[in-house]
Amino acid sequence: MNKIYTKVTDSMNFFEGNDPVDLAEKYGTPLYVYNERILRQRCRDLKEMVTYPKFVVDYSAKANCSLAFLQVVKSEGLEVDAMSPGEIYMERQAGFAPEEIFYIGNNVSAEEMQYAIDAGVYVSVDSLSQLEQFGQIAPGHEVAVRFNPGVGAGHHEKVVTAGKKTKFGVDPKYIPEVKELLKKYDLKLIGINQHIGSLFMNGEAFTASIAALFDIAKQFPGLKFIDMGGGFGIPYKKEEGEAPLDLKDLGEAIDKALYQFAGEYGEQIIFRIEPGRYISAECSVILSKVHSVKYNYDKKYVGCDCGFNVLQRPIMYDSYHGVEVYRGSDEKSEKEESVIIVGNICESGDILAKDRVLPEIKKDDVLGILDAGAYGFTMASNYNNRLRPAEIMIRENGDVVLTREREELEDLMRHVIRLENV
Ligand code: LLP
Repeated sequence: MNKIYTKVTDSMNFFEGNDPVDLAEKYGTPLYVYNERILRQRCRDLKEMVTYPKFVVDYSAKANCSLAFLQVVKSEGLEVDAMSPGEIYMERQAGFAPEEIFYIGNNVSAEEMQYAIDAGVYVSVDSLSQLEQFGQIAPGHEVAVRFNPGVGAGHHEKVVTAGKKTKFGVDPKYIPEVKELLKKYDLKLIGINQHIGSLFMNGEAFTASIAALFDIAKQFPGLKFIDMGGGFGIPYKKEEGEAPLDLKDLGEAIDKALYQFAGEYGEQIIFRIEPGRYISAECSVILSKVHSVKYNYDKKYVGCDCGFNVLQRPIMYDSYHGVEVYRGSDEKSEKEESVIIVGNICESGDILAKDRVLPEIKKDDVLGILDAGAYGFTMASNYNNRLRPAEIMIRENGDVVLTREREELEDLMRHVIRLENV
């Protein structure tokens, strides 16, 4: 392979000696590639971030719910959250026990709540009306309540999940009503939880929010756990030297707060965090082939097969993903140029990277779209009736295994019923 621009994956030894051009050739593109070693390392980073002994890391499966991925997370001793029966189902498939799953419902039907209760997982509700519904279907049961601590954070307004402008959580002013409903239905409040939003690069909002959450917890003696949520960010602009989140610093600040609260609360309470992105983003690169290079008026467009059906983050949040360039031929790139990298979906917004300065990209090059493991495959769709891609994992010994087959045209007919008499 001719390494045209490979700085980030080289620095992490991402491909473990495999050639991305060969992988693209063998498995086809677009292709989600995962690195098991990096995934394991991210799990360990978080498990070790505090010294407080009863600290549980619940991986937030919405970020990546692929079976092989969940199996690795399970083998690292993490627990998981779930946002739907589908996530509970996949987590059970991956070997998580019901008591290792924390289902955090949001505006869910009684049937869905019942599914979670029957599955034996911990359940959290996030409004008074959902608490009432829970009481009606499972009186006397254990339940958790998600509060909105009034502090939010996140990389985009669409992913700020606490504070005054979001649908999530119970406003703490309704604590008396929560207590009444618990009493009315003889429910046992075992935990409280929050999630302030996704992607913070310093821990200020997180530490402020846990202080607010601890104040709420003081009003509920006898809790088994407090779940502080996720949101831990990763540096998407690695090639520009963006620094990672200082987990050591944040860990020390949190640790202090945990010991202090546990001391006051008078019990060895369990603290949980619920990170999705931090664990899953950096262990994946999408490989995508360039099928066209053209000028439209004064702009150069590089057209590849990674449309927003494969990676939705750029069109949805204007998100930045680093792009690398791998080439099968010996041809060199003599110059750098500014390009717009686009996919194959019939919408002008189908832009992966805007005005990106890279070594000259040629037709048939393979692109590596970096940090794609979080909210990548889970948000992929069949838009334009395109097929969702395959996934492979590079095992710790460098072996490559297929973990999800690429969809086939016949899959588009699954669940479809043909009209008769037309
Ligand atoms: N727990 C709850 C209740 C959540 O709502 C979320 C994310 C998480 C945990 C995990 O957050 P994380 O650690 O991954 O930041 N699709 C967006 C992100 C949406 C996040 C929504 N909630 C993106 O691609 O940036």
